[in-house]
Amino acid sequence: MPTLHWVGKDQVRNHHRDVTYRVLRDHYTFKATSSCPKNTVDNKVIQGDNLEALKSLLPEYEGKVKCVYIDPPYNTGNEGWVYNDNVNDPRIKKWLGKVVGKENEDMSRQDKWLCMMYPRLKLLHRLLSDDGSIWVSIDDNAVGILRPILDEIFGVGNFVTCVIWEKADSPRNSANQFSTDHDYILVYSKRPNWVPARLARTAESDSIYENPDDDPNGSWIAGDPFANKPYSKGLFTISGPTGREFSPPPGRFWRVSEDRLRSLDSEGRVWWGPTGDARPSIKRYLNEVGDLVPRTLWKKDVGSNRSSKNEMRAIFSGASSFDTPKPSTLIARILDIAADHDSIVLDSFAGSGTTGHAVLKANLQDEGTRRFVLIEMMDYAESLTAERIKRVMEGYGEKIKRYRGSEVHLRTIP
Ligand SMILES: C[S@@+](CC[C@H](N)C(=O)[O-])C[C@H]1O[C@@H](n2cnc3c(N)ncnc32)[C@H](O)[C@@H]1O
Repeated sequence: MPTLHWVGKDQVRNHHRDVTYRVLRDHYTFKATSSCPKNTVDNKVIQGDNLEALKSLLPEYEGKVKCVYIDPPYNTGNEGWVYNDNVNDPRIKKWLGKVVGKENEDMSRQDKWLCMMYPRLKLLHRLLSDDGSIWVSIDDNAVGILRPILDEIFGVGNFVTCVIWEKADSPRNSANQFSTDHDYILVYSKRPNWVPARLARTAESDSIYENPDDDPNGSWIAGDPFANKPYSKGLFTISGPTGREFSPPPGRFWRVSEDRLRSLDSEGRVWWGPTGDARPSIKRYLNEVGDLVPRTLWKKDVGSNRSSKNEMRAIFSGASSFDTPKPSTLIARILDIAADHDSIVLDSFAGSGTTGHAVLKANLQDEGTRRFVLIEMMDYAESLTAERIKRVMEGYGEKIKRYRGSEVHLRTIP
């Protein structure tokens, strides 16, 4: 398998083993006002570098995390944000100097970013359960270097997909070249046989089904009666209700045999058009289709950069200073696919705490007991990350304290 090499790789390859275990220090515990002790769910926000925090989680969580979502800095070189996107934060710089040594002076931004990511991904791999998956948000700046290290750590065979999320709901006309309208989410499973959950059908997905002939079986869509795959019983000519004859076009075959097509017709499952002389279609009934297989293109219905900012404004009464939150609806989609009702969900680049918000919301919807662990290095771990969780648990703006049973512990690394 081709692998990626960069300055510092040799030094970080096994670095996760050398990181010392620390016992997290309790800072405070917050319970939703109307907390219900029987149903208490233990969530954590950890303030500190995720390398040490992830190591400290191993004794309790190794092999137990069902869903990891991370949204690391995208390595754009942008230093104007509240957090530093250039792996140039003094703490990370110091750490790189210590781990990589002299070579550290010749490192490019990509080298530094890879050195930062590699040992953290190694620990995330250990924390993931055998039926778990990891979801990593990234953009074009770093997707090309992220994919080979994920292949190396999680295994090429465990690559599941690369989701494209339409993050912009309008183009940026001031862009020099292209308006970048999407991000990626790389998905890897711990083991090769991972099966994503199907998504519940929606009014939109059902709206393409109709019932123009008042079929007692309910709404249906017209299925293509032909296939490209050669089929020995798939070449025949059949007459419709008006006597008009139909055969497959050259190079195509009926999907079903003549006997089967006649039998489907006798059951009212074949549609010959409104006047009975159109090419036959085989009806696919709404009441016979299952839940939806997840697709790789996620449009604005899972939220956009604009909706996530609106969400933050609603939570912080218009006063949030965080530039790059993800929408909780985006993470909700990931949870629908990758987490069960009682799963542990981990986000080690927590930012504004969107993942915790999405977990609380999911529990509220189905009375689940999912738990989350969030890690954030910056000082705002308390004032923003944990504060958002508190406000969500208090039912911000919703006027009802509905998150009862939830509690969150803020921990720090001594
Ligand atoms: C892109 S933001 C995540 C945004 C988040 N998904 C949200 O919706 O708010 C990346 C976050 O990772 C944090 N971070 C970067 N390096 C870290 C490290 N080594 N340990 C812990 N947090 C880190 C940054 O401070 C920043 O808040």
